Amino acid sequence: LTTVKEIYKSTEQYLDKEVTVGGWVRSVRDSKTFGFIVLHDGSFFETLQVVYHDTMSNFQEISKLNVGAAIVVKGTLVATPQAKQPFEIQATEISVEGDSAADYPLQKKRHSMEYLRTISHLRPRTNTFQAVFRVRSLIAFAIHQFFQERGFVYVHTPLITGSDCEGAGEMFQVTTMDLNDIPKTEDGKVDFSQDFFRKPTNLTVSGQLNGETYAQAFRNIYTFGPTFRAENSNTTRHAAEFWMIEPEMAFADLDDNMALAEDMLKYVIRYVLENAPEEMNFFNSFIDKGLLDRLNHVLNSEFGHVTYTEAIEILEKANDKFDYKVYWGCDLQTEHERYLTEQVYKRPVFVTDYPKEIKAFYMKLNEDGKTVAAMDCLVPGIGEIIGGSQREDSYEKLCARMDELGLNKEDYDFYLDLRKYGSTRHSGYGLGFERCVMYLTGMQNIRDVIPFPRTVNNCEL
Ligand code: 4AD
Ligand code: MG
Repeated sequence: LTTVKEIYKSTEQYLDKEVTVGGWVRSVRDSKTFGFIVLHDGSFFETLQVVYHDTMSNFQEISKLNVGAAIVVKGTLVATPQAKQPFEIQATEISVEGDSAADYPLQKKRHSMEYLRTISHLRPRTNTFQAVFRVRSLIAFAIHQFFQERGFVYVHTPLITGSDCEGAGEMFQVTTMDLNDIPKTEDGKVDFSQDFFRKPTNLTVSGQLNGETYAQAFRNIYTFGPTFRAENSNTTRHAAEFWMIEPEMAFADLDDNMALAEDMLKYVIRYVLENAPEEMNFFNSFIDKGLLDRLNHVLNSEFGHVTYTEAIEILEKANDKFDYKVYWGCDLQTEHERYLTEQVYKRPVFVTDYPKEIKAFYMKLNEDGKTVAAMDCLVPGIGEIIGGSQREDSYEKLCARMDELGLNKEDYDFYLDLRKYGSTRHSGYGLGFERCVMYLTGMQNIRDVIPFPRTVNNCEL
């Protein structure tokens, strides 16, 4: 089969020749002696018009096809300079692989995102989701290419783990025990010695701790895989299962970390603008009118930089605008993040040096003893898209911090070893892949950039 993409991209090669294409019917219009089919074959954003005549033996069958039917069309590609579409196929033969039932849920009208979420197995056939999931695929490829070009080693960190990297306790437990009959020890605790791993385990919230061990062997590594969080937050930016990209670099400080993050985001933006122009124009016309201007502006400017302490001073002046009032020491909410990046900087901005109390145990303590070498990257329309830091590389300081937080150091033996055997200054970050897809497409809800989203209350299909 020739693809619709090949026909659009190398039209000269196919004009006035016989081609065979296979795809799904978007619409059928027929009159007594001929008809038109709009065909979509999944290879390209654009559709192909097919003209058929009553000289075909199955003319009646074709005219009665429903939207969604799968067909194979043989015919001649002819130019149509007067028409809206540049060319069409004059069909000589159409075979039906599978008609579609009349109750096909995707009719030729605009469906709401909410409705389309209820048919996540069929929505990839719509224009919006064709664009979203092709761009999602390209972004993943661009990210791999970015890191591979720079010599970063792709490390596959485990999905089942015994640790809680972020220390937030938002984990899905993994067990083979029968919930109706959980074995207990004499003092009434769950007896994991009977369980598969002989200890409590959970789905990973981040590959970072394992990633750091490989950075202390290869220098520059990255992970790219699923992560899981049982956050009970029902927002448009949180999913229970999402993908994260986590680079980690030895011999690198917080500035190196931010430079990498900025280069990466710009690389990916440039890649999708160059490789998915049809899809990006579609988003700009139908999803988010300012998208292309905004992304081009990002390519032509430097990201902003502000410390947490400075950011709090800026935000305190706008406290009357916020539901949650800010003060030094508070965690930034989405409304604050968006105000900073949308109203103050009007471009992506790094916020650095957060109070240690609101960040994870592994971050490097600054000289003030109060803040850590953390960086979050905030972008317009979303807020936090990246979270990262320079890591504590002193064995003593890390132990002291873990004791302060009451962490069981035995569980982190491997992690502490890195500080005993050739410790280096090192840094890394986590990019939320879905938030990145939202940022580049203008899609407003994380549920609409994941093929089969898992969120609070929802694990369909
Ligand atoms: O800021 P987070 O929690 O950082 C970490 O997990 C570090 N271990 C990363 C590192 O330094 N290697 O998460 C990183 C990013 C966030 O900035 C956000 O984009 C995304 O992951 N994220 C989520 N995306 C969707 N749904 C959720 N529930 C998310 N939680 C975090
Ligand atoms: Mg974070």
